[in-house]
Amino acid sequence: MREKSLVLIKPDGVQRGLIGRIMQRFEDVGLKMVGMKMVWVDKEFAKEHYAAHVDKPFYPGLECMITEGPVVAMVLEGLHAVEQVRKMVGKTEPKSAEPGTIRGDFSQHSYAYTDAKGIAIKNLIHASGNVEEANAEVALWFKEGEMHDYKTVHEKHVF
Ligand code: CDP
Ligand code: MG
Repeated sequence: MREKSLVLIKPDGVQRGLIGRIMQRFEDVGLKMVGMKMVWVDKEFAKEHYAAHVDKPFYPGLECMITEGPVVAMVLEGLHAVEQVRKMVGKTEPKSAEPGTIRGDFSQHSYAYTDAKGIAIKNLIHASGNVEEANAEVALWFKEGEMHDYKTVHEKHVF
């Protein structure tokens, strides 16, 4: 039940100065940061990361958004980490995301607005959608040597 999830603070989150506040939420719940780096991805890498979306109508806007500045990439580990992180991140559309979630508390875009403007939904975060996606995304973004094995106090009280 211990899982790893890939989380990105997207360029809008980095540029809005939300790195610390977003990371704080994951640390507060006891998720363990086992990998972390800042990366400015190119179009080719964006297509690999968003392979499932390249043929969708919103992809050009999504590619433009994810390559417009650096992202902060993290690997978070914990019990049911993939589901836990998705719950904390909230729904894809900020307008529908519940208050208390990261997207619900810090962003406001709607599909109606971004589709009309031909831009991507700016929702601050990427988080792996399921365990299979998480394993593939962690392997895409992080080499073995870039992840670290150490003990947190949560491991003493949870595991
Ligand atoms: O990020 P999440 O897994 O919640 O959503 P997704 O369906 O995997 O879509 C990936 C990203 O594409 C979203 O986070 C949005 O930034 C963007 N997107 C968009 O701009 N317009 C849509 N109609 C759907 C997704
Ligand atoms: Mg997704």
